[in-house]
Amino acid sequence: MADVSNVTVRAARPQDEAAWRALWADYLTFYELTLDLAITDATWRKAMSDQSAIFMRVAELDGRVVGFTLSLTHEGTWIKNLDCYLEDLFVDASVRGRGVGRALLDDLVGLCRENGWSRLYWHTAEDNSTARKLYDSYVETDGHIRYRIEF
Ligand SMILES: CC(C)(COP(=O)(O)OP(=O)(O)OC[C@H]1O[C@@H](n2cnc3c(N)ncnc32)[C@H](O)[C@@H]1OP(=O)(O)O)[C@@H](O)C(=O)NCCC(=O)NCCS
Repeated sequence: MADVSNVTVRAARPQDEAAWRALWADYLTFYELTLDLAITDATWRKAMSDQSAIFMRVAELDGRVVGFTLSLTHEGTWIKNLDCYLEDLFVDASVRGRGVGRALLDDLVGLCRENGWSRLYWHTAEDNSTARKLYDSYVETDGHIRYRIEF
């Protein structure tokens, strides 16, 4: 059982920028992705803005920011209230297996309930067995396959 006693999850604040950028860089490395700095800058700005649907939550372990979720809400055609899409989840490799990932997901589930959002959903790579083990403990995959055209 993971030790979650020292994990707190909260809304990201401007002071978290340096810690988040370090985690984000590791996240991009995990996905073997190079992203324009302008996109990272814009993502941070959106996460900090009340005008954007994107929001960020961070996990602190012993007072240090060690993980984050980036999510957004949007309207839907099959639901009464908003849909919440979890786009990014990352935990610092040095603290994995201690319940931080689960705390971040639990936090989102709680936010959805508090705000009356209709659904929480996310994607993962089929072969990301570590993440899938965590996800499978919440809900079964709904069997959808993603199609995406990039422009
Ligand atoms: C997926 C990830 C967020 C999990 O974070 P974490 O803090 O290690 O997760 P937790 O400690 O809360 O573990 C939760 C569960 O995941 C599973 N798990 C965690 N680490 C695991 C490992 N190395 N191997 C197998 N299962 C593992 C366990 O089932 C664990 O269950 P438990 O709570 O009963 O112990 C983290 O591994 C990560 O950031 N990976 C790289 C980025 C990534 O894959 N993001 C998700 C993209 S969709």
